[in-house]
Amino acid sequence: MQNFEFYNPTQIVFGAGKVEALSSLVPPAARVLMLYGGASAEKTGTLAEVRAALGSRQVDEFGGIEANPTYETLMKAVALVQLKKTDFLLAVGGGSVIDGTKFVAAAACFEGDPWEILLQHGSNVTQALPFGTVLTLPATGSEMNNGAVITRREIGAKLPFRSQYLFPLFSVLDPTKTYTLPLAQLANGVVDAFVHTVEQYLTYPVNAPVQDRFAESLLQTLIDIGPRLLAAPEPVYDDRANLMWAATMALNGLIGAGVPQDWATHMIGHELTALHHIDHARTLAIVLPALLNECRDAKRAKLLQYGERVWGITAGSEDERISAAIDKTRDFFERMGIATRLSAYGLGADVIDTLIAQLEAHGMTQLGEHGDITPAVSRRILEAAL
Ligand code: NZQ
Ligand code: ZN
Repeated sequence: MQNFEFYNPTQIVFGAGKVEALSSLVPPAARVLMLYGGASAEKTGTLAEVRAALGSRQVDEFGGIEANPTYETLMKAVALVQLKKTDFLLAVGGGSVIDGTKFVAAAACFEGDPWEILLQHGSNVTQALPFGTVLTLPATGSEMNNGAVITRREIGAKLPFRSQYLFPLFSVLDPTKTYTLPLAQLANGVVDAFVHTVEQYLTYPVNAPVQDRFAESLLQTLIDIGPRLLAAPEPVYDDRANLMWAATMALNGLIGAGVPQDWATHMIGHELTALHHIDHARTLAIVLPALLNECRDAKRAKLLQYGERVWGITAGSEDERISAAIDKTRDFFERMGIATRLSAYGLGADVIDTLIAQLEAHGMTQLGEHGDITPAVSRRILEAAL
């Protein structure tokens, strides 16, 4: 196992009806800014519950954080924080609202141009406002990690950043909050969590059986409950709860501690979202099968382990087993109703040059666990994903 430091200060409060715990989780004298997305949180009654739990605290509100949150919108929230002298942020929503809140938390305390936070991937963040979250969409793990991804619309850039100052203080995980999700968002959540797990597991062996078995259990859980979530005529609490916990555990740092990590699928996927507005999880479903095939030699040992332990593939030559494991992965995404080819999103070979140019512009030229996914390799991956 590789050396690592593991630190995660986020308190999790999990279960039906737990939004009311905000009354004690948020400091009593806090001047709160509640941040949320479009119409969903109001329509589902979650905002009303949050307002009730916050009681007589000073609470201002900032709505309209879009899916794939933008710098342009978030800077308006930063101005509101300064105007209202906010000292505590509360995100109510999915990954986009939570990521946006992390940016606001850092930007409100930042000296200089806040876009620099993205350009330096967060290494220049030295303080941030404290914040908590109420999660309404299990997918990103943002509720228990210190990362975020922000889009700057005017330049078509979608960049990640992270900082030790950006762990949520607490996150309320109420699985019943997922009951109003459209099936497509539920499917996105399953696939995003699946790919997060894969990107920390499917690299090369470093004799880390705890991380491996934990990752395999997350993958098996998602394979098990994913199709059931789509087929159920009514939401089933346990399936929603298991999805929520699996998605949180997939990206809170635990399975990635002490093991090599890939993340090339995510970085290529971010360019697809920035330029072509494809949902985050869908970009991953397009890129991952092609990437696994491209990297089948470098990932050989783990691909065989993945095939055997996650999909029960034991027959055939090594290459046949690896192909079967990649096919099973693609088939799982398709069974979740998520297309895995660029052509299914109306995109052809003509978009690849610009995608590669953007990867280069963003410094994404040495991706993957070996740093050997160069722009030429990314191009082959995208061509194979057509
Ligand atoms: O805007 P509203 O009206 O609230 O609708 C949202 C949004 O349109 C809706 N929604 C959320 N909860 C709902 C609901 N609708 C009905 N009922 C509910 N309970 O769902 C739509 C999508 O929400 P969004 O937050 O965008 O989805 P997700 O959680 O998948 O987040 C995606 C963003 O997270 C980033 C992605 O890049 C993307 O920008 N990621 C963040 C990561 C992190 N911080 O660690 C890692 C991930 O890899 C990912 O990159
Ligand atoms: Zn993701």
